[in-house]
Formats: sequence, structure tokens, C-alpha cells
Amino acid sequence: MDAFVINGGKRLRGTVRVHGAKNAALPQLAAALLTDQPVKLSDVPDLVDIRNMTKLLNELGCEVEHDPAASSVTVHSTDDSKCKARYDIVRTMRASVCVLGPLLARRGMAQVSMPGGCNIGDRPVDLHMRGLRALGAKVYLDSGYIVAELPESGRLTGARVFLGGPFGSTVLGTINVMSAAVLAKGRTIIESAACEPEVEDMANLLNAMGANVTGAGTPRVIVEGVDQLHGAKHKVIPDRIEAGTYVAAAAITNGQITIENFPTDALTAVLDRFEYAGVEIEPVKPASGASPSPPRKRGTRKKNNQGTLDDARMRQTVRVASTRRLEPTQVVTQPHPGFPTDLQAQIMALLCLADGNSMITEKIFPDRFLHVAELLRMGANLVRNGPTVLVSGVRELIGAQVMASDLRASAGLILAGLAARGTTTVHRVYHVDRGYERMDLSLQKLGADVERVDQPAE
Ligand code: EPU
Repeated sequence: MDAFVINGGKRLRGTVRVHGAKNAALPQLAAALLTDQPVKLSDVPDLVDIRNMTKLLNELGCEVEHDPAASSVTVHSTDDSKCKARYDIVRTMRASVCVLGPLLARRGMAQVSMPGGCNIGDRPVDLHMRGLRALGAKVYLDSGYIVAELPESGRLTGARVFLGGPFGSTVLGTINVMSAAVLAKGRTIIESAACEPEVEDMANLLNAMGANVTGAGTPRVIVEGVDQLHGAKHKVIPDRIEAGTYVAAAAITNGQITIENFPTDALTAVLDRFEYAGVEIEPVKPASGASPSPPRKRGTRKKNNQGTLDDARMRQTVRVASTRRLEPTQVVTQPHPGFPTDLQAQIMALLCLADGNSMITEKIFPDRFLHVAELLRMGANLVRNGPTVLVSGVRELIGAQVMASDLRASAGLILAGLAARGTTTVHRVYHVDRGYERMDLSLQKLGADVERVDQPAE
């Protein structure tokens, strides 16, 4: 099993490019089930989760062409008879649940293994099911599978759907309901929709396929149903979580790096916290004569969703520097545009070395703290009380053997290892490979002493 061996203390320098967003690409691949024409995505990261999704789509009767060198995937749904997402695939990747809406809307029936909990806590899907029921679907559980069927009329019907839950809205739930509603009869209004950039990017793809979605990126999404969708080409937005992780990597090593394809517009709350702590983040002006973003070709303007994300500000180049010990700060994870839960472990690693006490409260997944025990092994001073962790800054972290438990916790431990005195071995980095394309190579390029080894945990 692969581990990363990290000799800490190297200041990062150089340039890194942010890949396309995993969490945007996964449901977009599933959206190809909504049409019998090919859907081509570009800037798709080469990740285990993406391969799992293409495998699932293959089983669901799609021809898939994956070209990792070109970062593109084309999905062509050719056999409409398959409607079952098996347990064996869904258990490896919870995001498989996003085939539910498209299968139901276009093939009339979906059977998707009920995703279980995972290392970050309970992961219910009640809101997905409630949303699809509101559109008239018959949705029930059978032998561990969510089964969704069209009503007798043979088509979903637009409705007003409320998707707020005890921890805010649901990202994949909003995406599931939105992608079912595009083929429903009439208008659907999703209230308390998730506002995450991945929802907005999904709406942009659906609109490129002929759907009529407005308001995505805000809490009210309006979908006017259409009879059918067609193929499309779409470039996936950059990964805001990978981008934030590299900011933290520069900061924790007192480094100075340049990050390309940086989605500034999707990271407002994150940049606010990093800047508050003392990290310098400046956009790099394009070289004189160069245009900040390529001019849009005539006729290609997106016609429907008046998105909240500005194209140019989603693909900036920024310079990140940290020259002094950071200030402590408070962080509360919240639905977008708040601070994302997917960067909680990374900022915790950073604040372990700040000059004073910080407080981190997790409001999305209140048990997402498996990294705390591992950071303690590296000399961090952390006290957890329910969903809150008090982080008392220490002068140094000390290298140790630590165990990755989930994707983002692993990223936090790798960051801690980059700053720690001595050698840190992060075991089970297959978690990290699910969400970061060859993070070891990107860090090496920035001057980090990181090596991937095949090593059993002691
Ligand atoms: N929730 C419900 N009922 C539901 C669905 C969700 O109560 O039916 C609750 C959850 O338990 C949680 C909150 O609502 O407390 C938010 O969960 P959400 O449904 O938004 O999570 P998700 O859509 O399953 C996506 C990302 C996660 C990310 C969360 C929150 C993908 C593939 N996954 O999950 O990403 O943490 O949104 O932003 O898009 C990761 O990349 O490491 C990751 C876990």
C-alpha cells in the first residue's frame, strides 16, 4: 500500500497548476446519461474516483473514451436498458449516487445501492429522495438499494422542492434533483438549493446540452423542463479544494509559490481566513499585451444560467507567500460561500503552528476530525469538544508515522509533514489519490522532499 515519506522543512518555491474539480466532474460525467449523444468534458483530473465513475457508466451502457493525457473524457450513452448501480461500485465512491436523477429522468427507472456512512460521518440521502418524490417519482428502499421509478404518466412533473436539511442544503442532492428536473414537464423551483460552484458548473453543462436552468449558484434554482437534451462539450471548473490545499502548503512551509488556474471567485471565505492569518495572496497581472481570459467566440455565450462565477476570476494566476509566523484565527465550516468543510483538515494543520489559540468548528460533518488524533502524534496541541477543536499553536511539529483516514484528512497530514522537523510517513495515501492528481509530483516540483513508497503500515 502506498505511503508518502516526507522530510519536512523545505520552503516551497515554483509554480503549480490547479487541475479540474473532481466534485464538478463526477456529476457531469453522470449527466451524459441524460442524452443519447456524446458529452465531452475537458480538464477532467486523472483520479481514482473519476475512473470509478467511468467504470460505473460503462456498466450502465455508456461508451467511455478517457484520454488522461488530454485530460478529457467523452461519455456516450448507447444502451438504455441498464439502470442498476451496484453495491460494489457505490461503496467505493459515494458520488455514484449522482446517477440517480439522470437514470430516473431519461431511462425511467434507477436502482442505486444506498451509500453507507463513511469516515467523515453519517451521509444520509433523505433529501435526494424527498426531492425526487416531489417531482412525482416513486422512490423507495429495496434490499439496500434506492429504487426510483417514473409515475404512471411516464414523465416527472415540475414542482417546488425544498432541499434544506439540518446541516444546510445538499450539494449532490441539488445536482440530482436539478438533473432530473431538466427533463420534467413544466417548471421546477428548488428552494434552499446548494450554492456550491460545482452546482453552478453542472447547470452550465446542462444548459449547453439544451436544458433551461437559471439561478444555479444561488439558493433558488429554476428549471424549465425540456423534451430532450443533446450532446455538448464543456470545460470543468478548477478545483477550489486543491487550490486551497496548495495555498496552505505554501503558507505552512513559509514558501513562495505561483498557482495557475486558481478559482479566486470560488474561494472568498478561504482567502479571507488565510489573509487574516497573514498569508499574502496576490493575483499576478497577465504579461502586457496578453488578454486575462480568451475572448468568447460569437454565439457561444451561455444563454440561461446567469451564473455568480466570473470566468476570468475562476482561472487566475496568483502568487502566495508567507514570510512570518501566522496569526491564530477562528474558522467555521459552512455551506458555500462559507468556509468549505473540505479544507478544514488543511487549515487545522496550518493553525497548529500559529502564534496563539485558534478555534475550528465543523458545521457540515460534525465528526470529521479523524486527523486530530494523528496531528496529536506529531506534537500538535488540540482539544476537541464536540464539533469544535481548540488549536493552541506550537513552535514546531515533529515527524511521525501517521495514518490517512479520508481524502482531506490525508491532505492535512501531508501539509503537517511538509512543515515538521524530521521524517513523516503518511500511510494509506490511496485516500489522497482519490482527490488529488499525483500530489507527490506537484509537491516535488515545488521543491518538497516527498517520496511515494510501497510500504506496509507498522
Ligand atoms: N445531508 C442530509 N441529507 C441528505 C444529504 C445530505 O442531511 O440527503 C447532510 C449531510 O449529512 C451533511 C450536509 O447535509 O451534513 C451536506 O452534505 P452534502 O449532501 O452537501 O454532501 P455531498 O453532496 O454528499 C459533497 C462533496 C463532499 C463535500 C460535501 C459538502 C462530492 C462528490 N462530494 O458531498 O466532498 O464535503 O459536498 O460540501 O461532491 C470530498 O471531496 O472530500 C468530499 C467529501
